Amino acid sequence: MVVVSRCIFLFSLIFAFTLSTAFAQEINSKELLAEPNTYIGSEICRTCHLEHYDAWQRTLHSKMLQDVSKNEDVLVTEIDENVMKEDFKKIEKKLKVPMDQIYFPKREDVLYTIGSQWKQRYLVKKDGTYFIAPTQFNIDNGRWVNYHEHNWKERPWLKKCGGCHATGVDLEKETFKEPGVGCEACHGPGSHHAAQPAAETFKKRGTIVNPSKLTGGVAVQICGSCHNRGKATKVEGSGWPVGYRPGKALETYYKSIPSDHKKKMYPGGFSKSHHQQYIDWKQSKHADSGVSCMSCHVVHQLGNPLFRSKTKLEGDKLCTSCHVKVAEVGAHSVHSFGNCANCHMPRIAKSAESGDIRSHVFTALLPKDTLETKIPNSCQTCHKHKDEDLADLQKRWDALTERQPAAGKVMVEANQ
Ligand code: HEC
Ligand code: HEC
Ligand code: HEC
Ligand code: HEC
Ligand code: HEC
Ligand code: HEC
Ligand code: HEC
Ligand code: HEC
Repeated sequence: MVVVSRCIFLFSLIFAFTLSTAFAQEINSKELLAEPNTYIGSEICRTCHLEHYDAWQRTLHSKMLQDVSKNEDVLVTEIDENVMKEDFKKIEKKLKVPMDQIYFPKREDVLYTIGSQWKQRYLVKKDGTYFIAPTQFNIDNGRWVNYHEHNWKERPWLKKCGGCHATGVDLEKETFKEPGVGCEACHGPGSHHAAQPAAETFKKRGTIVNPSKLTGGVAVQICGSCHNRGKATKVEGSGWPVGYRPGKALETYYKSIPSDHKKKMYPGGFSKSHHQQYIDWKQSKHADSGVSCMSCHVVHQLGNPLFRSKTKLEGDKLCTSCHVKVAEVGAHSVHSFGNCANCHMPRIAKSAESGDIRSHVFTALLPKDTLETKIPNSCQTCHKHKDEDLADLQKRWDALTERQPAAGKVMVEANQ
């Protein structure tokens, strides 16, 4: 026993020593502090913030861009030219160039995967520049579709997409520090923070952005720097806010699409396309009242059960934690079983296939909205009987809405 425990003691010493030297190699405090503050990557943050790292790793942020050479399993499907071609044949009429001129990537061409929930795209390199291969795999129904097959070589990934899917992007050097949405995407570059001695608590705090210490409006713009669609103001042709840092005002670096954008919005200011949660939310009563992304979502929280989309509570419990009373009366009464989000956050936007992304305006869409502007409504995920007459459903809804809530009179009569 004694021998065994001594061995364990010795091993832990060796382990601790290797760890500390490995760490010392990675961080040279003096050197880092002499250089301008810059990105160092989540692996370094992990050495001191293991819990945050662990929680972050379970979210999609950490998985947005994944290196195929490190783990082949990040490919959600096989990169098989014949299978791709079979699927492309089914949509041949939609293709902008003939099939035989389309570039179908080979397995060994694919360097990184982009995405793993709704769809997956593939990063390849041509003449030293990253491009997005013109084939996209839609994960829910397992089909391949085309993606800019005619002009993919005019769309360098770093410039078009890079800053929203990788961390520490440098457009001049054509590099990025880390694939995926790393710690520093929300906390800002952290080399000086990491290099400060551990005992210097206030210097430590002063060299990194803590969103919960910012004003609410500035903090939510961190999320808005990616869950948004528009144009960079400082670099022409870039789709992400080049130059923006957490804690700064987003508007200086980015101009969002207008809420009446023809292609990406429905009439009335509801998003038709994905990564537009911030645009939706800004128009909502929640935004007016300071109920922000972080009121409903966690981005890393140890011990938090892993609900879909990392909401603080599951399903209706999230909404009723604030809206304690709503479900009792009027139009709500007959649908007391109904899920708040299914009516107030209908899936009307598209990532891979239409209707896979939820609205964040939080307004329930009625049959009359569809009749007026053709926007999908919240009702027909359930009320989808054949020949359902929308005008009639609207009328029945109106009747339901007009019905007064019970006022207690019946009880008085019964007591007489
Ligand atoms: C060498 C250890 C170390 C490394 C590496 C490190 N941190 Fe820290 N971090 C600390 C300490 C110590 C504090 C102060 C804790 C306190 O407030 O008591 C801190 C605080 C923070 C805070 C809260 C600041 C505040 O004002 O409340 C954030 C956010 C943070 N770190 C993020 C990061 C990120 C992101 C990285 C990687 C870029 C990182 N840390 C790397 C040790 C480290
Ligand atoms: C998507 C944005 C985002 C990413 C990515 C992110 N954080 Fe945070 N972090 C936040 C926000 C927002 C807060 C403020 C507290 C909150 O609302 O949870 C925060 C708070 C913190 C704090 C302060 C203590 C606390 O829990 O409040 C630390 C330390 C921290 N993060 C470390 C990290 C580390 C380390 C990573 C990477 C492994 C990371 N964060 C990745 C957004 C992010
Ligand atoms: C302004 C930031 C931004 C830009 C620019 C951007 N994206 Fe995204 N993208 C996001 C966000 C945020 C999401 C996740 C939320 C959503 O889809 O609603 C996302 C989702 C995706 C997904 C789906 C991920 C999954 O798990 O299914 C893919 C694939 C993708 N983007 C590829 C691209 C490509 C390729 C480009 C460039 C042509 C691009 N994006 C440009 C922010 C951006
Ligand atoms: C640097 C860009 C970036 C920033 C900043 C960012 N996100 Fe994201 N977010 C993304 C991308 C890209 C995805 C899709 C990842 C994927 O599908 O792999 C995503 C996914 C999500 C998801 C789905 C996560 C899951 O695990 O299911 C939520 C929720 C989310 N983001 C909320 C936030 C909040 C809240 C903030 C601000 C505190 C924020 N994001 C900041 C880019 C960003
Ligand atoms: C009032 C609560 C609330 C607010 C505020 C909120 N969300 Fe959400 N979000 C949700 C709910 C609920 C879901 C759906 C969860 C599910 O499908 O189970 C969701 C889903 C998402 C998704 C996954 C996409 C999808 O449609 O499945 C992303 C990404 C996201 N939110 C980002 C954000 C961002 C960024 C903000 C701030 C601009 C934000 N959310 C504000 C409640 C909220
Ligand atoms: C953190 C607390 C909080 C959470 C969680 C929350 N809300 Fe709200 N909500 C508010 C506040 C505050 C307002 C604005 C005050 C008001 O108008 O009643 C509001 C307003 C609304 C409105 C507009 C009300 C009106 O008068 O037009 C709707 C609809 C709504 N919320 C639905 C939801 C749904 C659905 C969820 C769950 C996905 C949810 N809320 C989660 C706090 C919250
Ligand atoms: C069947 C669809 C449907 C469901 C399910 C639903 N709502 Fe509503 N809700 C509406 C509509 C439509 C309105 C607009 C007013 C009206 O017509 O009654 C509304 C109004 C509201 C309002 C503003 C008016 C008020 O009563 O304060 C809030 C807040 C709200 N809903 C929250 C919720 C919450 C929280 C849930 C889940 C417990 C929920 N809703 C479930 C359709 C729905
Ligand atoms: C989650 C599924 C679901 C959603 C979403 C939903 N309904 Fe319903 N609705 C039902 C069911 C099931 C009933 C029958 C309830 C009963 O009889 O107690 C019902 C009953 C009704 C009734 C009363 C009975 C009738 O058919 O005349 C009306 C009116 C109605 N819904 C309208 C709407 C409208 C308008 C919307 C959209 C704002 C909507 N519903 C959204 C499932 C749903």
